[in-house]
Amino acid sequence: MAATVIKAEKLPEIQLEYMKLIAEIMEIRKRGETPLAYIRTYGCQQNVADSEKIKGMLKQSGFDFTDTPDDADFILFNTCAVREHAEDRVFGNVGALKNLKRKHPQILIALCGCMMEQEHIANRIYNSFPFVGLVFGTHSLQHFPELMYNSLVNGKRVFERGNDDNKLYEGFPVRRDGDFKGWLPIMYGCNNFCTYCIVPYVRGRERSRDRDIILGEARQIIEQGYKDITLLGQNVNSYGKTLEQPVSFAQLLSEIDSMDGDYWLRFMTSHPKDCSKELIDVIANGAHISKHLHLPFQSGSDRILKAMNRHYDRKKYLDIIRYAKEKIDGLSLTSDIIVGFPGETYEDFKETLSLIREVEFTSLFTFIYSPRKGTPAAEMDDPIPAAEKSKWFQELLDVQEEIAAKRCSSMVGQTERVLIESVKEKTGELNARTSGNIIVELPGKADLIGTFQNVKITKARNWILKGELI
Ligand code: SAH
Ligand code: SF4
Ligand code: F3S
Repeated sequence: MAATVIKAEKLPEIQLEYMKLIAEIMEIRKRGETPLAYIRTYGCQQNVADSEKIKGMLKQSGFDFTDTPDDADFILFNTCAVREHAEDRVFGNVGALKNLKRKHPQILIALCGCMMEQEHIANRIYNSFPFVGLVFGTHSLQHFPELMYNSLVNGKRVFERGNDDNKLYEGFPVRRDGDFKGWLPIMYGCNNFCTYCIVPYVRGRERSRDRDIILGEARQIIEQGYKDITLLGQNVNSYGKTLEQPVSFAQLLSEIDSMDGDYWLRFMTSHPKDCSKELIDVIANGAHISKHLHLPFQSGSDRILKAMNRHYDRKKYLDIIRYAKEKIDGLSLTSDIIVGFPGETYEDFKETLSLIREVEFTSLFTFIYSPRKGTPAAEMDDPIPAAEKSKWFQELLDVQEEIAAKRCSSMVGQTERVLIESVKEKTGELNARTSGNIIVELPGKADLIGTFQNVKITKARNWILKGELI
C-alpha cells in the first residue's frame, strides 16, 4: 500500500517575529546582559536533534548557553518517555529546581519532549510542579518561540500538546552541539507500533524529509568539517515512503556517501523487517559508511517477536546478519534487547542468549521491559517477578561481556583508524572510537581531538581497547 504523501511546511514567519520580541523582552529584563539558557536533553538522538533546533531558536532570540542551571534565565528539560526509569529521573530532577525558582522567581522553567505528549504526565506536571511555567510536546516545536513569549509576558502557565502529529516543518535555525560529530534527522515519527513501545504515540506518524534538503544539509556539514555524521530516524530503512517521489534509504545513503570529504557516515536505527540486501551492498561498497550495523532484534524467540509485533522472525534476522557478515569485511554489529517482555519464559530468554552467542555483537543496549501506559503490552499478563527478570538480565550481561572481551582481544595487534573524541579527565588519556563504534583509549595530546588517527591496538580490557598512535 502506498503511503500518504506528506509535504513539508515552512517554520511559520510569525515565529521569527516572536524570537525578536523575546530578545527585546530579555534585553530589558537583563539590562543589556546576555540572557542564559540551560538545556538538558534526555533520551535518544531524536531528542538531541530537537534540542539543537530549540537552541537555534533561543540563539536567535538573543540567548547564550550555560552548563549550570544556577545562572540560567531559562531552564528546559527535553524529556524521554521510553522507560519508567527515564521518566522518574526527569521527575526527580524537576523537583530539585523548586528551591532555585524560589530564590530567583524570574527564571522560566520549561519541559518539552516525548513525556509531555502524554496527557497523564502533563497533568501530573501541572498539578505537582506549580513552578513549571511552560510545557510543550514534540509536535509543538514550530510554536516554541510563541509559547515562550506568551509565558514570559503573561506570567501565566502555558501547556500545549497533541497537535499535528502528521506534519513536517523545515527552516528551523539549528545550533549544533559538537563541531566534529553531527546529527542529521532524515525522518520523524514511527508507524510500527511495536506493542511495548511508546514512541509512535509521542512522536506521531512516520514522515520523511525531502531528499534535496537532506543532501543540502549533508553537503553543508561535510564542508563545515564534521567528521562523524549520523543520519537519524526511528526506522531509517523505511525512509522515503511519504515523499512525492519515493526514494529508498539505500539510495539516499549512497548519494551522501558519494560526496567528497574526509568523514564517516552512520545511521540509526535500522529495523530488521525492512533491512534490504541493497542497503547492505551500499554499506559494503561505501567510501565513507562505517562498517557498523546497529540492528535491534529485541528477542531471540519467535513467539515473543510475534507478541512484540516486530514482523520478522529469528531466521530472517539471522539471514540478514549472515549476508551482512559475508559482504562487509570487519563488520561490527550492535543491537537492542528487551528482557522480561510480558509472557516471556526462561525458555524464550535462552533463545535470546543463543542468538547473541551466534551473532557475536560488539556491544548491546539491554533493557528490562518497562510497561508504558497506553501500549498493548501494558495490558498483557506479566507473571514473572521483577527479581527473576533481574537475574536473567544479569545472565545476559555476563554472556555479552564474555563475547565482547573475546571480540576485543582478537583486535590486539591490528591497526585501526579512529576518531579522537575527548580527553579522559582522570587519566589525561585520549578517548577515541573506531568506525565499528568501539572505544579506544590512548596517550596523546588534546589538540588531536576531532581528527582521524591511525592507532595500533596494544591491549583489550573487556570491551575497551588500548592503543598507541602510529
Ligand atoms: N526505533 C528503534 C528504537 C527506539 S527505542 C528500533 O525500533 O529499534 C530504543 C530501544 O528501547 C528499543 O530498541 C527497545 O529495545 C527499548 N525499549 C523501547 N520500549 C521499551 C519498553 N517499554 N521497555 C523496555 N525497553 C524498551
Ligand atoms: Fe518503537 Fe518499534 Fe517504532 Fe522502534 S520501530 S520506535 S521500537 S515502535
Ligand atoms: Fe525517548 Fe522519545 Fe527517543 S521516548 S527514546 S526521546 S523518541
